[in-house]
Amino acid sequence: MALFSKDLGIDLGTMYTRIADSAQVLLEEPTIVAIEADEQKMVAAGLEARDMFGKVPDSIEVARPLRNGVIADYEITETLLQYLLQRVSGSMRIFRPRVMISVPYGVTSVERRAVYEAVMEAGSREAFLIQQPLAAAIGIDLPINSPSGNMIISLGGGCTESAVMAMYGIVAADTIRTGGMDLDEAIVNYVRRKYGMVIGQTTAEQLKVRIGAAVPQDIENSMEVQGQDQVTGLPRPVTLTTGEIVEALQDPLKQIVESGRKVLEKTPPELVSDIIDRGVALCGGGALLRGVDKLLTKSLGIPAYLVDNPLTCVVQGTIRGFNMLNMIRRNLPQV
Ligand SMILES: Nc1ncnc2c1ncn2[C@@H]1O[C@H](COP(=O)(O)OP(=O)(O)OP(=O)(O)O)[C@@H](O)[C@H]1O
Ligand SMILES: [Mg+2]
Repeated sequence: MALFSKDLGIDLGTMYTRIADSAQVLLEEPTIVAIEADEQKMVAAGLEARDMFGKVPDSIEVARPLRNGVIADYEITETLLQYLLQRVSGSMRIFRPRVMISVPYGVTSVERRAVYEAVMEAGSREAFLIQQPLAAAIGIDLPINSPSGNMIISLGGGCTESAVMAMYGIVAADTIRTGGMDLDEAIVNYVRRKYGMVIGQTTAEQLKVRIGAAVPQDIENSMEVQGQDQVTGLPRPVTLTTGEIVEALQDPLKQIVESGRKVLEKTPPELVSDIIDRGVALCGGGALLRGVDKLLTKSLGIPAYLVDNPLTCVVQGTIRGFNMLNMIRRNLPQV
């Protein structure tokens, strides 16, 4: 039996899907699929599909099957999972794995069911769902086995989750459908309002990653990007500074802070005092935004710190979840 069984952990994210086995992270690919529109056949997935964005004829549709952390297109998600699982485990018919897959805390039962069905249809032998913040906490090695409070804020591409955990379960949590993509959107809107220029989402993301920050910085950077003049329709360059990106990001960042505050308000005082001692762990790609730790430390009044493995902690937690299945099982979302 052991020869033919394998456990896999999956972090099905809005922007990236990651798969790990007990030894390592096996794969990280953009959650993007290119479909031949007429036949509904997959022509490319992951990085290869992402490179096709905006560069293919109408006969090919390039799509993100997840929106704000949840499945928006079931068929495409299943196709993608099938393809990725096949890539890491060869013939799924022989090596049908057990799978632990993360879902946002705040998903509906219908959304949970869709994820479960998709991994089962993709060829798993058995599937467990795990709340994304719980998986992250396990992946970061927080002492969630104890009756004391541990807090995480996970800043993903499509959603942000704040959660307090103790005794292998979630005590208080909040999910908002604001993530890194909304930060990019806020930059697009800012540039349109201020300069009358239209820039692409990818350009906005580059501005955020290269010169962006959550709070004003001592050293101002700047970056020139190409946009399209709203009036003339002609291309022209525009230069943005760090300060401008900080200003552009304030609204979505405020929502993230509010969500964290809400969770602290719902948390029993004894656990809050543990969190004050231990700090708030920040993970997800958005945690890499310069100064986001400072912003949260200041607005929550509790030290917030970036974890060592912000991008892979969720997938690492999903696979490690199998080692503590007996303890976490009763707290996992049911389907
Ligand atoms: N250095 C950086 N500064 C700011 N943002 C960053 C940086 N690096 C990555 N990001 C952002 O992180 C996001 C992707 O993070 P992540 O891979 O955790 O998302 P995901 O798991 O796919 O999404 P979700 O968990 O919301 O479904 C993107 O929006 C990306 O722009
Ligand atoms: Mg994620």
